[in-house]
Amino acid sequence: MNFSPSTFAYLARMVREHSAIVLDESKSYLFESRLGPLLYSEGVSDIDELAHRLRDDRFGPLRRKVLDAMTNNETWFFRDLYPFEALKATILPERMRSRENEKTLSIWSAACSSGQEIYTVAMLIREHFPGLLNWRLTLLGTDISEAILERARAGIYSQLEVNRGLPALMLARYFRQVGRDWKLEKSILEMAGFRWINLSSAWPPLGCFDVVFLRNVLIYFPLEVRREILAQVRQVIRPGGYLFLGAAETTLNLDDRYERIPFQTSFYYQPKS
Ligand SMILES: C[S@@+](CC[C@H](N)C(=O)[O-])C[C@H]1O[C@@H](n2cnc3c(N)ncnc32)[C@H](O)[C@@H]1O
Repeated sequence: MNFSPSTFAYLARMVREHSAIVLDESKSYLFESRLGPLLYSEGVSDIDELAHRLRDDRFGPLRRKVLDAMTNNETWFFRDLYPFEALKATILPERMRSRENEKTLSIWSAACSSGQEIYTVAMLIREHFPGLLNWRLTLLGTDISEAILERARAGIYSQLEVNRGLPALMLARYFRQVGRDWKLEKSILEMAGFRWINLSSAWPPLGCFDVVFLRNVLIYFPLEVRREILAQVRQVIRPGGYLFLGAAETTLNLDDRYERIPFQTSFYYQPKS
């Protein structure tokens, strides 16, 4: 490692206190690969000097930039496909029946990163369930990084990002080219809203959701934080509602009050009644 053990301990503690993400010494390479561009843009010679500056900038912009750089924001449209197949084949038809009287439907992408997950849901609804556009529809994306939420709100994606997972038909129908990037059409942008929420500290009042996407974020947290979050998610899922986790995540041995429902090659979850 090209920086001192005390710098490693300081940075790892800062990340853990902010987001609950645990980075042990086997992950020290992440500091080097992710902070490299920041060293350059901030004109700092190495990570030890960066840590030195951070100690004088406890709540300032540099701290925010380091925390953002240390977070894995990887995401893509239609990621893993099966959750969206499940929405289309069973979940949305079921919700349309069970919520027919109220005509309200709420879907939450917790840890939404740059928005591809919740915008995938928006496109799927517009494509296959246009009747829902007359309902009170809430599509909420939340994340701990303000910078990534700004990107989500803008709905502008690079060629590389739209090449990853997005069917050509959806690109043609719901995006327009702006320079070398692609911008989502207003009709999709306006369906989703975004808010800052740290999943590992107290949540503001959120209301209830029919479907919660909590994918590829629990893996970064220690077991007790995963348990707390899964318990809190149960409180905000409407009776009969659904939870999706990432491919490497499960409720097993963490929270036995979820039922695991097989779908295609994977699972989704429902709080037991
Ligand atoms: C790997 S991305 C997953 C994005 C998307 N859910 C998916 O599966 O494609 C993880 C996201 O979790 C967010 N995150 C990390 N710690 C968080 C926390 N404590 N509270 C809320 N979001 C957090 C990161 O900022 C990042 O955008």
